[in-house]
Amino acid sequence: MPSEVPDDIWRYIAGFLPVTVLLTLFSVNRTFLEIVRETRYQAISFTAYKSAKPLIKHVKYVHHPIEWDSKLVHSVRAEPWMVLPKEPKSHSWSSSTWKLLHACVSPAHAFEDGAEAQIARRLQKQTRRIADTIKGFTKLHTYHIDWDEGPYHPEFFSTLLDLVIPTIGRGLTSLILKVPLYHMPFLPPLASFLPNLLHLSLTLHTGAHIPMYISQKLEGLVVFLNIVLRNLRTFSLYTTPTSAYLDLGLLFCHLGNGRYLTSFTLCIPFDGGHLPDPTPLRRFLIKHRSTLESLNLGTTRAAAHPVPVAPTAKYWIRDTLKNHPPFPALSHLSLGLRPLRTDLSPLLRCLTGVRSQLRMLKLSERPLEYVELVRILDVLDDPPLLRVLSLRLRWLSPEIVDLMAAGLPALTALDLNFTEVVHQEPSSDASSIVSEDSYGLSHISELTLFCQIMSGKDYANWHLARLAVPESPRRQMKWLNPLERTFVGCVPALRSFAELVIV
Ligand SMILES: *[C@@H]1O[C@H](CO)[C@@H](O)[C@H](O)[C@H]1NC(C)=O
Repeated sequence: MPSEVPDDIWRYIAGFLPVTVLLTLFSVNRTFLEIVRETRYQAISFTAYKSAKPLIKHVKYVHHPIEWDSKLVHSVRAEPWMVLPKEPKSHSWSSSTWKLLHACVSPAHAFEDGAEAQIARRLQKQTRRIADTIKGFTKLHTYHIDWDEGPYHPEFFSTLLDLVIPTIGRGLTSLILKVPLYHMPFLPPLASFLPNLLHLSLTLHTGAHIPMYISQKLEGLVVFLNIVLRNLRTFSLYTTPTSAYLDLGLLFCHLGNGRYLTSFTLCIPFDGGHLPDPTPLRRFLIKHRSTLESLNLGTTRAAAHPVPVAPTAKYWIRDTLKNHPPFPALSHLSLGLRPLRTDLSPLLRCLTGVRSQLRMLKLSERPLEYVELVRILDVLDDPPLLRVLSLRLRWLSPEIVDLMAAGLPALTALDLNFTEVVHQEPSSDASSIVSEDSYGLSHISELTLFCQIMSGKDYANWHLARLAVPESPRRQMKWLNPLERTFVGCVPALRSFAELVIV
């Protein structure tokens, strides 16, 4: 029977369903069948030959109504794997035991030439097939080459880069790359196949490679970046904590001008060892300050540096932004507040400069206390455009909620990251902070008291429509439900209360 309900309505309904449920609903009607196919194949990953095979073979799901269509694929992630010697048929060991054994002994000693040649043949077959499959995705716009930082077959990466990008490059708007240094020199010729690239995300992992080798290989990367940068809107750069000798100064020194760059992200280990002198980064930002709408400087865990890092390096975020000329277009700012225990004044000065233009502000990593929040809100001074705020707090207290409702009445979305709920801010005489021995119980009573106190409040003038908080880290005390009831009760504008999850 033809459905009277328009497609759009079905699609709207489908939008509310969890993906796992949605995927089972292909028999509801034609629209759902379409939606299920799109959802199933929109983004696919190749991370092991076994799981990739069905797609590679262009298998039509004959017993399954969800038919495969290469046009449905918009995004591909490929993470090369190791082609291991075939397990002997008679063997009863599990394949992981076999892999472990193989990893422990050098292949040269353990296997005769036949085994090596066989691996080479299988590698060639597998990489070719992956490449041919990806090349067949005519509607691909996002291509992600990933790497687990482990041993790899260089042929695999060469195939994914040199063989695939010339064919699919023209359609790509987004490229996400994490490839071994070895391949950086081969990137420049690929840039000409990426005329429509708008978004580039790059993760650098240099492992134990020495500075000389790194700088040689980065030369290729610089050439590549300078070509694609001419057109890029978004550029994100990440480095891994296991990159011992990486210095990004070298890279930023040589980067040119992206005339359309609106969003820039840099995320490096918090010790700043990857950017001992932030001057080149500052110059890069100054070059792009008139177009940048979004700036994100964040950190990961400290890197393992064989030589001690200069003590000032950890101030890289502060020093990068210190006395920075204005960013006239900036509306989204996200900063990792590092080092955790340091004077907030330099940051506050930076916020003063942009307070009137910010729509979104994220201050992460440092768990802010009440008094620090007071200072930050003082500086922001009811920012006219700020609608979205994300903060990490030492704990959630009624005083903190009061403070934000009063200081940021126009805010519509708030993400709060905390691991404690307390019913009152500790003052010198108050004993609201629990003693160690009664830990579990006191946390529960703190939460109960918090909810009681909040139930007497009414934030009628707060525009807050969306609030996200994380689930409690303690298993015996889940707090999402009581907190949801509490906030729904006291914030009349609230329309959505969600669990804060790491994206
Ligand atoms: C909360 O902050 C911590 C520390 O920065 C971080 O590791 C964690 O991922 C954050 N949680 C969420 C849900 O963002």
